[in-house]
Amino acid sequence: MPDPLLIAKSKQELNLLPEMANRHGLVAGATGTGKTVTLQVMAENFSRIGVPVFAADVKGDLSGISQPGKDNPKLAERVKKLQLADFSFEGNPAACWDVFGEEGHPVRATVSEMGPLLFSRLLNLNDTQSGVLTLVFKIADDNGLLLLDLKDLQAMLQNVGDNAKQFQTQYGNISAASIGAIQRGLLTLQQQGGDKFLGEPALNLDDLMQTDSNGHGVVNLLAAGKLMSSPKLYATFLLWLLSELFEKLPEVGDPEKPKLVFFFDEAHLLFSDLPKVLEEKVEQVIRLIRSKGVGVYFVTQNPIDIPEVILGQLGNRVQHALRAFTPADQKGVRAAAQTFRANPAVDVEKTITELAVGEALVSFLDEKGTPTPVERALICPPHSQIGPIKPDQRRQVISSSLVAGVYEKTVDRESAYERLKGRAAQQPAPAQPAPAQTSSWFPNLGIPSSGGRRGDSLAEAAMKSAARAMGSSVGRQIIRGVLGSLLGGGSRR
Ligand SMILES: Nc1ncnc2c1ncn2[C@@H]1O[C@H](COP(=O)(O)OP(=O)(O)OP(=O)(O)O)[C@@H](O)[C@H]1O
Ligand SMILES: [Mg+2]
Repeated sequence: MPDPLLIAKSKQELNLLPEMANRHGLVAGATGTGKTVTLQVMAENFSRIGVPVFAADVKGDLSGISQPGKDNPKLAERVKKLQLADFSFEGNPAACWDVFGEEGHPVRATVSEMGPLLFSRLLNLNDTQSGVLTLVFKIADDNGLLLLDLKDLQAMLQNVGDNAKQFQTQYGNISAASIGAIQRGLLTLQQQGGDKFLGEPALNLDDLMQTDSNGHGVVNLLAAGKLMSSPKLYATFLLWLLSELFEKLPEVGDPEKPKLVFFFDEAHLLFSDLPKVLEEKVEQVIRLIRSKGVGVYFVTQNPIDIPEVILGQLGNRVQHALRAFTPADQKGVRAAAQTFRANPAVDVEKTITELAVGEALVSFLDEKGTPTPVERALICPPHSQIGPIKPDQRRQVISSSLVAGVYEKTVDRESAYERLKGRAAQQPAPAQPAPAQTSSWFPNLGIPSSGGRRGDSLAEAAMKSAARAMGSSVGRQIIRGVLGSLLGGGSRR
């Protein structure tokens, strides 16, 4: 069993227990109070016991985790105060990832892996538009057309729009306005560079779960600086990653240490205007992913940024200082205070506003899974560098990574775009459209007509997906239904 992880010290050591680390956690506090350094201290501890980590690096300052730290008077003072014997400086194995492929290895998902619901959220679609997008995925699925990158989806939309009348018999009404809205949304996404992360080679989750030759877990850093300028893209991407982990990882029960720890910085972005149905699914994923050995740690300013049902599942807590200037602030402080197991020796509400930088109220789960009474404590200093690395150091990290060269070049294999384009080139539009009942919509693709089978109308499709989402069997299809490729998932890689 790996040793407890020393994260903070009050009169006693405050340890995060590896076997309880999959019971999730929260790091909260106002700007500049020490959240990122706390995350860094947790992450390097996980790495040391061989647990890989995935963390969004919002300001770039977490990248210092890849380099040994440097002595400075403030740090020395903290080391002395905490009586940390044999404190040494050490960097950690790291991999840099970047949705835009600039600050790290490109990280990609295919359109069908994202699925219609995450796309709907990404594009801000209303229910009707979202229903149409769902049908477009289904039509692609039914016709064996792969949706890998943005141009596949665009070609598919175009095709469905152009042939809406014919599709109507089998799939129900497809309004031109909805198609138009989705197309405009995709254009905006493309302008934001969102198309960069749609396509192949798509991320292989195993690549996030590596250890180095010392048996230390690799710290995967998602360069999120640019990504944060499209908060929806950021939140949707991390949600996708979480759902992929959930879908792909096997059950492991309660392992002696996590398989992976996932840090979700700026977590309020995930939950701001998240539709209720998606929030419920996130709650479910968080609850169930634990038994797959994944610990999820949210990092945010105030605990009330996180829905209560999810907050209730975050067992390991570090609360840095909060301000209490306005009545709204004070309400937040009170709410934050109430989330801790009381300790008669600590006036939580008062203390929260007094905490110094790098100081926090801490409560971790004990070996029985019960939260320990809250303690006021100093967070240990990290062994790695505080603050960002330089561009040449980043280049060095990227080129020496285990996955160097694997994702750098895009692959554009034959998919919906090529096949639809091929069809258009081969056959100019017929002068007279064939009768709907006897023709297939993809006559040149050798796709058999549905032979009169009455397909799903829009309403039916929506009902089915809702039924799927509410189904009692908890597992793949629930998440697929809501987060993953909604309909069948037949067109995954
Ligand atoms: N545990 C610690 N040990 C040593 N120094 C620390 C510690 N925690 C915080 N500091 C110091 O305080 C500074 C600010 O901390 P940090 O960047 O973690 O704050 P933050 O809450 O993440 O801020 P922001 O909300 O702006 O991202 C650090 O750069 C570091 O100098
Ligand atoms: Mg920070």
